[in-house]
Amino acid sequence: MKIASLYDLARGAVSRLSGAAEGTMGISHPSRRVMRKAAGIIKSGGIVAFPTETVYGLGADAFNPLAVARIFEAKGRPLFDPLIVHIADLSQMKRLTTGMDRRAGRLAGRFWPGPLTLVLPKHGLVPDIVTAGLDTVAIRMPDHLIARDLIIGSGTPIAAPSANRFGYISPTKASHVLDQMGDRVDMIIDGGDCAVGVESTIIKLDGERSVILRPGGVPVEEIESVIGPVERGALAAQGPEAPGQLPSHYSPSIPVYLAESIRQIDFSRSDAGFLLFKKPAFEVPAGRTEILSTDGDLKEAAANLFSALHRLDRMNVRVIMAEAVPENGLGLAIMDRLRRAAWKETAMPEE
Ligand code: TXA
Ligand code: MG
Repeated sequence: MKIASLYDLARGAVSRLSGAAEGTMGISHPSRRVMRKAAGIIKSGGIVAFPTETVYGLGADAFNPLAVARIFEAKGRPLFDPLIVHIADLSQMKRLTTGMDRRAGRLAGRFWPGPLTLVLPKHGLVPDIVTAGLDTVAIRMPDHLIARDLIIGSGTPIAAPSANRFGYISPTKASHVLDQMGDRVDMIIDGGDCAVGVESTIIKLDGERSVILRPGGVPVEEIESVIGPVERGALAAQGPEAPGQLPSHYSPSIPVYLAESIRQIDFSRSDAGFLLFKKPAFEVPAGRTEILSTDGDLKEAAANLFSALHRLDRMNVRVIMAEAVPENGLGLAIMDRLRRAAWKETAMPEE
């Protein structure tokens, strides 16, 4: 069946899916009963928002194309943008990929469970809607009890993008999901704040090549310490290898301007909110300023990034002015997200 017709079918099928009640009344706090219910929803073709250590995901049974189609519909995500399949156990790799080579084994051994996604040759069993018709599949083993429990309870790998409307800021709290997707998902499981706060690093292992498709929660330097030099070429340019790495993404509803240094930020503007890497030596407008990490710690800054953007977006401001962070370690992922958030802005509007 073609992807497009699947998608059409999914629209009509949503209301007929047994056990997958349309819409949720709020946020569920994890308990054994809630986790059983969540697993039941996944098994019967529904979609569940759940916490991971990076950001909240919106999951469906990876082997149920109709359920996966519901994810695309709920997010407003184009079908050419493939999903990551989440596993709880290495034995689940067997039905997903034919290409678990030594390099993949070493990376999985060192970083799983954790914020690393491996793009590997796809197994014939994986539905095309998951991989957008590519011959590769993205796989990750998340390091979060609730995510693992959900995968194990459902008895299937779970395909899940971040649980935000397409193009908007990723969710790092259950309330972010509720605000954006509350009436579009069958359940939201609350797991508190995501500890890492930026999405997984995506690496494609293609023959001899190792290419970073998206910087994320595992610093590239750490990956290189395990498998040697990797290509970073795909980071800036959008190539066919990263169909979903759209230049404009992670965007608040108001313009974002990225300043190379704090000296370029005009703090006198009364219509602006400010996103700063660390606490500056001078006074900044209280109530309109978010500081990612008082002492300039990149890990803390990553964990706070999306929450801070969500708060700024809800403030009564017209523009967000963001300070660049150093581009090493997790700073590479933070800058990638900030550049994409700022992408569509070319000229700063007058006050
Ligand atoms: O941390 C994360 O990775 C989170 C949590 C929920 O696990 N997930 C996440 O998913 O960020 P999403 O869909 O927002 O981003 C996944 C990215 C997309 O940009 C997509 O294009 C890329 O992964 N991707 C998926 N499969 C791919 C493939 N076979 N080849 C290249 N890129 C792929
Ligand atoms: Mg996303």
